[in-house]
Amino acid sequence: MIESDAAGSSAPAPLRISGERLTARLNALAEIGAIEGDGCSRLAFTAEDGRGRDLVVTWMNDLGLEVSTDGIGNTVAVRAGVEPGPPVMCGSHIDTVATGGRFDGNLGVLAGLEVIETLDAAGVETTRPLAVAFFSNEEGARFPPDMMGSLVYVGGMGLEEALDTVGIDGTTVAEELEAIGYRGSLPSPGPVPHAYVELHIEQGPVLDIEGETIGVVEGVQGISWTEVTIEGQSNHAGTTPMSMRHDAGLAAAAVAVGVREIASSMGGNQVGTCGMIDLHPNLVNVIAQRAVMTVDLRNTDEEALVRAESALSELLDRIASEEGVTVSTRRLARFEPVEFDPNVVDLVEEQAHRLGLATRRMPSGAGHDAQMLARLCPTGMVFVPSVDGVSHNPAEFTSEADLEAGANVLLNTMVALAGRV
Ligand code: GLV
Ligand code: MN
Ligand code: MN
Repeated sequence: MIESDAAGSSAPAPLRISGERLTARLNALAEIGAIEGDGCSRLAFTAEDGRGRDLVVTWMNDLGLEVSTDGIGNTVAVRAGVEPGPPVMCGSHIDTVATGGRFDGNLGVLAGLEVIETLDAAGVETTRPLAVAFFSNEEGARFPPDMMGSLVYVGGMGLEEALDTVGIDGTTVAEELEAIGYRGSLPSPGPVPHAYVELHIEQGPVLDIEGETIGVVEGVQGISWTEVTIEGQSNHAGTTPMSMRHDAGLAAAAVAVGVREIASSMGGNQVGTCGMIDLHPNLVNVIAQRAVMTVDLRNTDEEALVRAESALSELLDRIASEEGVTVSTRRLARFEPVEFDPNVVDLVEEQAHRLGLATRRMPSGAGHDAQMLARLCPTGMVFVPSVDGVSHNPAEFTSEADLEAGANVLLNTMVALAGRV
C-alpha cells in the first residue's frame, strides 16, 4: 500500500531541480557515442555503452551514493533514508539504438541524479532510502529482447539465459558485458523496491500536439517481436522467367506490405513495423536466396495483439505457398500490456498539479523498464513532450523547460513516496 505524506495545505512548497545542471549532464553523456545531427549511438554492451556507464557511475560516486552492479550490469545507486528498508527507486536506461537521440532513457537516469543533488543541496532527508538505477540493454536492438536488464532484475528471465543471448553481430551478452567491465556480483532477481517511478520522453506526438507538459502514464502497450526467415532460391536475374522464381526478396517485401495492412485494417491502437530486412546475397543481378527480417507488433489490448499475431501467421503461410519459399519464425520478445499502480498514477498527477503543470493521462507506446518493475512493486511513469513526436532518431528533442518540469514531478513524487523528514 502506497501512502503519500504530501497532505493538504500544510505540505511544504514543492522542491525544484536545476534544469541547467540536468541539461549539462545530458549533453556530457551525449558526447559519448555522439553521431551526426546531435544524436547518440551507444548500443548495449559496446565500448561506448561502457564509457557512458563509467561517466554516470562517476557522477553517482561524486554524490556519495552507494553503487552496486548485478550480473547483467544493472547498476543501482542508493541514498540512505533515515530508516532502513526498501528504497523508492527511479531510473531508466543509458543504452541507445544505433541512430538514437540524447534523451531516450538518459533523461530518467540523469533526472534521478538531479533528485539526489537537489535534496542534498536543500538538506532534505527522506524516511525511506532513494535509489537511482540504470538497467542494461533496454533497447534490445543489438541483443533482443528489449528491457533485458530489468526483465532479469524482476526474475522474468534467468541470468544465464540473458548472458547466453547472441546478438545481431554474432557476439554474446556475456563476452561483451565482461569486456566493458560491468558483470557485477549482485544476485538476480534484485531486491524489491518500495516503489518505482520512471521519467521518460513521450517518444510520440500527443503531448506536443495538445500543448500539455506532463503525461501521467497509466500503462504500457503489449509488445510482440518476431524474427522471420525466408528461404528461396538464388538464381540469375536475367535468365529466370518470372513464373519460375522463388524470390526471398519479393516474399520479404510482401511481408512488410502485409504487416502494414494488418495494422491499418485492425485500426485502434494496433501498430506494426518491419524495421530490419537482411537479404542474401544482396546483389543487383541475383534473385535473393534468403531474407531475415523482423516484425514488431504492439497493442494496448492483449486480445487484439493476439489477433494481430494470428493474422501475421496466416500472412506468412500465404506468402510461402504463393512464392514457393519456406518461412520459419523465432520469437524475440513478447510482453503483455501492463497497467501501472493507480495510487502511484494518482500521485504523479497530484504532484504535477501542485507544480502548476498541465497533465494528460495516457498509455505508453514504447517499451520501458517500468513495465518490468511493475511486476515487483507499485510503479508509475512521467512523460514529457517529444517535439514533433520524433524518437529513435538523432533529431529527438525536448525543451529544457519540459525536461525540468518532468524532473520536478519525479522529485516531488519520490519525496512523497519516501516521506520527507
Ligand atoms: C524500446 O525502447 C522499444 O519500445 O522498442
Ligand atoms: Mn527508452
Ligand atoms: Mn528507445
